[in-house]
Amino acid sequence: MNSSVAAPDRYALIGHPVSHSWSPFIHGMFARATLQHMQYRLIDADAERFRAAALEFLVQGGRGLNVTIPHKQAAAELVNEMTPRALIAGAVNTISVMPDGELRGDNTDGIGLIIDLTENLKLALEGKRILILGAGGATRGVLGPLLALKPALVAIANRTLERATQLAATFSGRGAIIACGFDSIEPAPFDLIVNATAASLEGAVPSIPGAVIGPDSVCYDMAYAPGETPFTHWAAAHGAHANHKGWGMLVEQAAEAFLVWRGVRPQTRHVLELLAAKGRELPRVTPAPGTSP
Ligand code: ATR
Repeated sequence: MNSSVAAPDRYALIGHPVSHSWSPFIHGMFARATLQHMQYRLIDADAERFRAAALEFLVQGGRGLNVTIPHKQAAAELVNEMTPRALIAGAVNTISVMPDGELRGDNTDGIGLIIDLTENLKLALEGKRILILGAGGATRGVLGPLLALKPALVAIANRTLERATQLAATFSGRGAIIACGFDSIEPAPFDLIVNATAASLEGAVPSIPGAVIGPDSVCYDMAYAPGETPFTHWAAAHGAHANHKGWGMLVEQAAEAFLVWRGVRPQTRHVLELLAAKGRELPRVTPAPGTSP
């Protein structure tokens, strides 16, 4: 045995469930491409076990954690400090151990979506009308970066109007943002419609008017699965110009987490192509939107 070979730096994804996760595959590809000596594994911990399991991993030398459903808010409580974008999102999906041992919480979900929309899909969102379905953690995480692109309007529509109203009030200083219920969405075309609800998990589509889709509308489901999701199926049936699922957001948030940890941002195109191919091959359950699996 050669004792001079350093052990790899250790990272993990913690969530519940995590067995479906693509993160070890994605980070393994990134590590190989950037020649980083690291390992990435899964930790399945429910809400009761989250804090102890996360701290155990980090105390035992883990360098960082990705955090996914249902622990992103709990992770914000666990860390010693948060980056501005994590503070705005009110949730943490990336934890780093700092040189002094402090834990820093970051959130790469929002920037992951923005990079997918603007760089991979080449959408120009300045001055555009955006409709976001859902008012949970996934929506909260992307509102700051979306409003920074200066759209003409962001409308948040939610089954429970009160949650949408609260989110719109929180972000009202950052741009033009309104809240509505599914039944009170302005029945006129939006340029971009993002599904950030958990409805796909139930095989359901939010009950919104088809009039929000025009011939130029682009629809994006934060959930991902092989084939159609209920939302992309619905959008296609109503004549959307283009339909996308959340594979790109998944890969780009991972690349941003990798950058936070390793100081190098991996290329994502090759991984995206591989995932698209694998996603077509494998029957999989649709994970929740905006997760970091
Ligand atoms: P996340 O962190 O993934 O956003 P969340 O905070 O539990 O998870 O939010 C889930 C979102 O999906 C909410 O906007 C929820 O609507 P409510 O606020 O009314 O609960 C929405 N959602 C879940 N199931 C839905 C369904 N079947 N139809 C429409 N919206 C649904």
